[in-house]
Amino acid sequence: MENKRIVSGMRPTGKLHLGHFHGVLSNWLKLQQEFECFFFAADWHSLTTEYANTEGISDSIREMVLDWLAFGIDPEKSTIFIQSQVPQHAELNLILSMITPVSWLERNPTYKEMQENLTAKDLSTFGFLGYPVLMASDIIVYKAARVPVGQDQIPHLEITREIARRFNYLYGEVFPEPAALLTETPKVLGLDGRKMSKSYGNAIFLSDNAEDTRKKVMSMVTDVQRPFKSDPGEPDRCVAFTLHSLYVPDEKRAEIVASCRGAQIGCVDCKKILAQSVVDTLAPFRARRDELAADPSLVEDVLAAGAHKATEEAGRTMKDVRAALKV
Ligand code: TRP
Ligand code: SF4
Repeated sequence: MENKRIVSGMRPTGKLHLGHFHGVLSNWLKLQQEFECFFFAADWHSLTTEYANTEGISDSIREMVLDWLAFGIDPEKSTIFIQSQVPQHAELNLILSMITPVSWLERNPTYKEMQENLTAKDLSTFGFLGYPVLMASDIIVYKAARVPVGQDQIPHLEITREIARRFNYLYGEVFPEPAALLTETPKVLGLDGRKMSKSYGNAIFLSDNAEDTRKKVMSMVTDVQRPFKSDPGEPDRCVAFTLHSLYVPDEKRAEIVASCRGAQIGCVDCKKILAQSVVDTLAPFRARRDELAADPSLVEDVLAAGAHKATEEAGRTMKDVRAALKV
């Protein structure tokens, strides 16, 4: 039987934004129709950088999972759970750590980059170095065939494949080597023109209300070479216009391009049109999210059922692992 299993995790950073909407989430939604999916909140991975500041993690998980569910990630189709509720991830992590050369981890470009950039935190820990080993465990504990990831995660997935190969070489064929499914993401810019990110404070969240969304859209940077309405503008230089491509229908957009270049439409009016489209597009999502959030036990119930199913599957793999390892 063809292996149609997919595993993907997201570190709980709280509410998701439009960048997630057009990247990871849309992709998960498609995959869910075709594959057997395991989607989880990678809270242990959060600990690799947030070990000194753990209070926010459980709220972040709730907000993130509400976004998943409101978006259409369906607990009837997919297994939705929290990493730390499935102890087999940690058990396999321990075993894989025995066979993973430290040099593989030290040469990982993401490792070097994060250590250089996140200087406010002491990341010279065993756990941070072992981030890819835990990720490998997350994936192969379900014997997944494919892993949807962004470009930045490709080196990690390569380490997963190497670890799986090494295990199979040492103890016999237990794990398939999971393939990366590169997620195509349109680059979603934040209000200030940098990549949209919660940590930059430039994000429009899926769960923002209509009023906040409007305010945020109206504050977006436009063509900086167009100080006055009477100056012709250029949509290709305009940050706000990157969202027009995602939210405003083609015909209307063509009209805007022409009247921007012809200095007929002002940026305020132009962004009002955009804001309305964004609000209209997100309205059903937001209504659904409010409904789900009003049920006090829903998220917990979904996560408990997911953990149960995931634990069963992971437990099956661990039996094979023990048999192969003879320990
Ligand atoms: N490292 C991933 C990220 O930061 C999150 C993650 C953890 C993950 N375990 C995973 C993704 C397993 C895919 C599969 O985005
Ligand atoms: Fe951007 Fe619209 Fe202003 Fe043109 S009119 S610069 S597309 S906001």
